[in-house]
Amino acid sequence: MKKEELQAIAAQLKHPTGEKGIEMAKMMHETNINMTRHSIQNLNIKAGDSVLELGHGNAGHLELIFEQAEKLKYYGLEMSELMFQEARQINRNFVSQKQAFFSLYDGNAIPFQDSFFDKIFTVNTIYFWQEPENFLMEIYRILKADGNFCLTFADESFMKQLPFTAYEFTLYTTEKLKQLIEKTAFKIVYTETLTEKVKSKTGELADRAFTTIVLEK
Ligand SMILES: C[S@@+](CC[C@H](N)C(=O)[O-])C[C@H]1O[C@@H](n2cnc3c(N)ncnc32)[C@H](O)[C@@H]1O
Repeated sequence: MKKEELQAIAAQLKHPTGEKGIEMAKMMHETNINMTRHSIQNLNIKAGDSVLELGHGNAGHLELIFEQAEKLKYYGLEMSELMFQEARQINRNFVSQKQAFFSLYDGNAIPFQDSFFDKIFTVNTIYFWQEPENFLMEIYRILKADGNFCLTFADESFMKQLPFTAYEFTLYTTEKLKQLIEKTAFKIVYTETLTEKVKSKTGELADRAFTTIVLEK
């Protein structure tokens, strides 16, 4: 594949746009649903919780969240206008019932007041954070004192085999991420690394190692 094609894939994964962005979002949803499920399961969602997801893509997974407990409120934040629109369309019933709320933001300053959320999670977005330490502190600020933040990402060892990750992506091992977290006030409560089979773009099955880290204040 040419350099321009790899750059285009990386740019779509970072910020889906246009017709190709819709297709990319469908592909991401299918490929990453297991990672998303793990993130949600590790949040220990309880009835009445307010749950925030950062970088939800097309958000085709909201039923997985609402089946966790009663009376939940889901908030989704995106930087991609296309993903914001797609997520609202796919989840129009949850939106009209005022169970799901979607917003756009700049990817840095989270537009919610301090201690607003019981649970926060994000899957496959850390590679694109512009200011990782400041962003973790923003997440800390909006999390309740007894809340949990769950961060799920694919390990550098797997990601670096994908040629497009040479562009736009910052890759992490669990160790690198732990060093970043140590610079903040967050405490690590749980770390889980799993390996799953995923289909590569050429159709072969590859082993993907991914990690979920659960943090608390
Ligand atoms: C690789 S996709 C992952 C989507 C989905 N979470 C998944 O795992 O399939 C990254 C998504 O995060 C969004 N994104 C990137 N940086 C972000 C940030 N700082 N905050 C929120 N969303 C972000 C992008 O617009 C894109 O929709």
